Amino acid sequence: MQFRIYRYDPDKDTKPYMQDYDVEPEPSDRMLLDMLIRIKAQDDSLSLRRSCREGVCGSDAMNINGKNGLACITQLNELKQPVVLRPLPGLPVIRDLVVDMSQFFKQYHSIKPYLVNNDPPPEKERLQTPEERSTLDGLYECILCACCTTACPSFWWNPDKFVGPAGLLQAYRFLADSRDQATNDRLDNLEDPYRLFRCHSIMNCVDVCPKGLNPTSAIGRIKELLVRRAV
Ligand code: SF4
Ligand code: SF4
Ligand code: FES
Repeated sequence: MQFRIYRYDPDKDTKPYMQDYDVEPEPSDRMLLDMLIRIKAQDDSLSLRRSCREGVCGSDAMNINGKNGLACITQLNELKQPVVLRPLPGLPVIRDLVVDMSQFFKQYHSIKPYLVNNDPPPEKERLQTPEERSTLDGLYECILCACCTTACPSFWWNPDKFVGPAGLLQAYRFLADSRDQATNDRLDNLEDPYRLFRCHSIMNCVDVCPKGLNPTSAIGRIKELLVRRAV
């Protein structure tokens, strides 16, 4: 199989370049990550992140033939060759396929991604009905891989101001939680021309999410909550 991979080592390269690799898959190789591990065995100067190899940790997110995704759950037989691999767009490159995720996590932390409830803690746990719990389906499964946020043009242009789809999906995850008491503070935190309203519903985020989540719909629900609060 033929691969063309983005290479950049700021310690020795004056600018990025694409490097070609020709690698024979073994019969057991199914996923793109299997081939990346083979390529790395040939050329250990190639840098990439990976951990779980099960689509759970989110660390091997990259741009695969022009679309963000996770290498470990991308089937080899679905890939057009040469397979062109680049780092996630819109974040600074540390080296090769490894990006600096600081801005992504800064925006994620800005929405206070934890339950706020000032009632005295119950003896065991804060209960929800099955219906209340089910409102969190499609929200809690996010693995923070950043495929969505780094596919979003609004985030590319305003990474310091627009929360981005991953952060907004999580903002709605806590707004929708029957146990959370910070609804007004959460909405105040997002009622801003940039933080929420820079989303133009282009839906790149939905198109790339490897977990099949829908940040655009969550963003729409937050906008609805803001409208309802205003009337
Ligand atoms: S729908 Fe909104 S958040 Fe998603 S990619 Fe488009 S602008 Fe970004
Ligand atoms: S919403 Fe999907 S694409 Fe975005 S960070 Fe979460 S899992 Fe990744
Ligand atoms: S290695 Fe964990 S999601 Fe791919």
